[in-house]
Amino acid sequence: MAYTWSKDLETGNSLIDSQHQQLIKAINDLLSACATGQGRDTLHQTLDFLVSYTSKHFGDEERLQQQYQYPDYPNHKNLHDKFKVFVQDLATQMKASGPTTTLVSKVTFGVGDWLVNHIKREDTKVAAFIREKQH
Ligand SMILES: [Fe+2]
Repeated sequence: MAYTWSKDLETGNSLIDSQHQQLIKAINDLLSACATGQGRDTLHQTLDFLVSYTSKHFGDEERLQQQYQYPDYPNHKNLHDKFKVFVQDLATQMKASGPTTTLVSKVTFGVGDWLVNHIKREDTKVAAFIREKQH
């Protein structure tokens, strides 16, 4: 089942929102590939994208938090760092054992659920803080 973009995922920051949409789209593309039996073939591409794009996206978010002196920055950065290790580890597993179905589901639901929860719980707090500071 695909992840749907909803109001509660919106931070109101257009750069961050568009990057979040790209990330969710990558997971949804993998899910649609799974629906037609192409999941394992698509996994390589999805992981390549996730490794590079999460790193870019987190960098952009972290710069924004530093710029506005977001007080929970160290904790937020720590969550990002852990997740980068998780994604990197999935890529390493794929190199070692190939695109297994277990790995496909770790990417779809492991990565997908983390992203959605992180956006809802953490990124919306950052966006609210920035909005407050701008006023
Ligand atoms: Fe974040």
